[in-house]
Amino acid sequence: MIATSNLTLSFGPRVLFKDVNLKFLPGHCYGLIGANGAGKSTFLKILSGQLEATSGEVVTDPKDRIAVLQQDQFAFDEFTVSETVIMGHQRLYDLMQERDALYSKADFSDEDGVRAAELETEFADLNGYDAESEAATLLKGLGIDESFLARKMGELEAMQKVRVLLAQAMFGNPDILLLDEPTNQLDLKTIRWLEDYLMRFNNTLIVVSHDRHFLNNVCTHIVDIDFNQIRMYVGNYEFWYEASQLALQQRKNESKKREEKIKELEAFVRRFSANVAKARQATSRKKLIDKLTVDELPTSSRRFPYVGFAPERPCGKVVLRVQDLSANVDGEPVLSHFNLEVNQGDKIAFIGENDLVKTTLFEILAGEMEAGNGRYEWGTTITMSYFPKENSHYFDTDDNIIDWLRPFSPTEDSDTFIRGYLGRMLFSGEEALKPARVLSGGEKCAACWPA
Ligand SMILES: Nc1ncnc2c1ncn2[C@@H]1O[C@H](COP(=O)(O)OP(=O)(O)OP(=O)(O)O)[C@@H](O)[C@H]1O
Ligand SMILES: [Mg+2]
Repeated sequence: MIATSNLTLSFGPRVLFKDVNLKFLPGHCYGLIGANGAGKSTFLKILSGQLEATSGEVVTDPKDRIAVLQQDQFAFDEFTVSETVIMGHQRLYDLMQERDALYSKADFSDEDGVRAAELETEFADLNGYDAESEAATLLKGLGIDESFLARKMGELEAMQKVRVLLAQAMFGNPDILLLDEPTNQLDLKTIRWLEDYLMRFNNTLIVVSHDRHFLNNVCTHIVDIDFNQIRMYVGNYEFWYEASQLALQQRKNESKKREEKIKELEAFVRRFSANVAKARQATSRKKLIDKLTVDELPTSSRRFPYVGFAPERPCGKVVLRVQDLSANVDGEPVLSHFNLEVNQGDKIAFIGENDLVKTTLFEILAGEMEAGNGRYEWGTTITMSYFPKENSHYFDTDDNIIDWLRPFSPTEDSDTFIRGYLGRMLFSGEEALKPARVLSGGEKCAACWPA
């Protein structure tokens, strides 16, 4: 069980959520949803103790082990894949280290023997003998072959690291599992595997996701961050969506009724305020108007950015022609004799298990990487912009978002132009002065959107 008691978090004047009292129980899967920047990742960080709340507290059973999906892809570069997964259970990992050190001692004393016996008991209690095979099974499900177990994390691609970190979080059946956007870098087959695994998970699971199919398949509850509050609903995403649309409609109807009532009262006040006989009634109706007006609807944080492309000139028939394109990465062939013609109006999805192939093709087409052989040509009317999947390194700076965006601006670099653009992407007023570093995942995507 994990619970919050009057939990409040604000960054400066901005309150993300206030006085949250929720209880998360074993056997349930809670899908945490809300707009980009609503505070989902922040809430998970508070639950796991990585971040302190402004006020209020998190209550857990000290016996419970909390596991989180680590967000830092480089933190384990020096460790092997197998070690990284087992580190998900820190106590077991420490035990294994001590045990290995003890057994490799040249002068094994009686005392060491006693200690070894203690360690063996705890090791067995924690299922230590199955640790490596459990790690291998998890990795296999996540698409990482056994041959990777002894490789250093530093040698892996970003996509593979994410999978290892996911295995790390799930390793050793934690009591409370906190996953922030676990499906982000996974292909469809692995997402299905993960859904299946999580549906069978019997402890407490809290997962952030923007993927409604995933949420529908795994969640028993939906936890929504909106209106500066966090509210819990029983049921999956679809159920929450229907219920929230209904509630919204009800609020709108009530608000409409209230407005009509106000209009009626105002008309009365206008007609009779000069009438001595009705003056008292007019005054009391005026008070009623004030009361009805005060109860305004709270505003939702769900807003939608305006993304509009106004081409500089009309697009010709041929957008892109790729001929016989080949490429090697680290000496290995990744693309070979690839041909493609993209015509005006085409919308193409690239799907496939091997991310390296897709990323390499896109990097080449964006001009970020050299092709080995073959050629590609953008149509003469085409201007091209690239939105890379891996974008975190762009944000490694203390600049505010306005200064951060300035070098990317194709034409103007005035504050007014950039502020206008950021405003459409929902960074208005003070929000545009936040350091680029603190942006949420979704806010980073909005800031990266080609202007
Ligand atoms: N140190 C900080 N100072 C000021 N604002 C911050 C700080 N850290 C985070 N924020 C802001 O708090 C908000 C919540 O961020 P968080 O990462 O929790 O959002 P999220 O709900 O996970 O969004 P996403 O769906 O995009 O991942 C964002 O607007 C973010 O910019
Ligand atoms: Mg987030």
